Amino acid sequence: MKGVILAGGLGTRLQPLTKITNKHLLPVYSAPMIYYPIRALVEAGIEDIMIVCGGNHAGEFLRLLGNGAEFGLKHLNYTYQQNEGGIAEALGLCEHFVDQDKVVVFLGDNIIESSIAEAVKEFEQQASGARILLKEVADPRDYGVVRFGNSGEIIEIIEKPEAPPSNYAVVGIYMYDNTVFDIIDTLVPSGRGELEITDVNNAYLKRGDLRYTVLNGWWADAGGSIDAYYETIVRVAERERGGNPA
Ligand code: G1P
Repeated sequence: MKGVILAGGLGTRLQPLTKITNKHLLPVYSAPMIYYPIRALVEAGIEDIMIVCGGNHAGEFLRLLGNGAEFGLKHLNYTYQQNEGGIAEALGLCEHFVDQDKVVVFLGDNIIESSIAEAVKEFEQQASGARILLKEVADPRDYGVVRFGNSGEIIEIIEKPEAPPSNYAVVGIYMYDNTVFDIIDTLVPSGRGELEITDVNNAYLKRGDLRYTVLNGWWADAGGSIDAYYETIVRVAERERGGNPA
């Protein structure tokens, strides 16, 4: 199983904090943001990891992370996303890296309280297809949102709907077999000019090959807004201080 962490983008939603650095390098309590997804992958047993950098500060990732010794790794892989073409485009850059394997894709600003080890194990046992993680949230309008059928099956995923069909948001952690790259080749840019990961998930759904796991513990999209960033720091601080508020 390979791991890919997407750490490009311009971080416009966190301006001016991202004027002189990349969003994923900003501090989240005691560590830079990108440390958390790396730790989560390593904890789930994934040690072959590609970091997709982008924007103006890509060189800093190498300075910060090196070969990943701090995470118990021998080696880290890096690539560079030239354009702001979206999550699916960034993943497309990893085709040679994933090769015949399966991949867990982690958005570099997604931080979770608990482990993904169980979901990864389930995906390993899955013969083909994709597995997404869902989380119930109060207001899912900023995310991919799931519409369920009568027996709890996913019928459709809608990106940032104004009228969400459920409160289940799609977490920025995705598991794919290597046919994901054939799907990415068929995508066309969305209204925001990006290749959408929601279109990838809907393509697996159409094929009848999309499963899901509901994530335990809290989920934070730290790069979503200044408020989300601040709340993430408070949550991480509480966890690290053994439940005592910051
Ligand atoms: C992206 C995805 C969305 C997902 C979210 C999770 O949104 O498009 O489906 O729910 O990540 O963080 P974006 O951050 O690109 O707005």
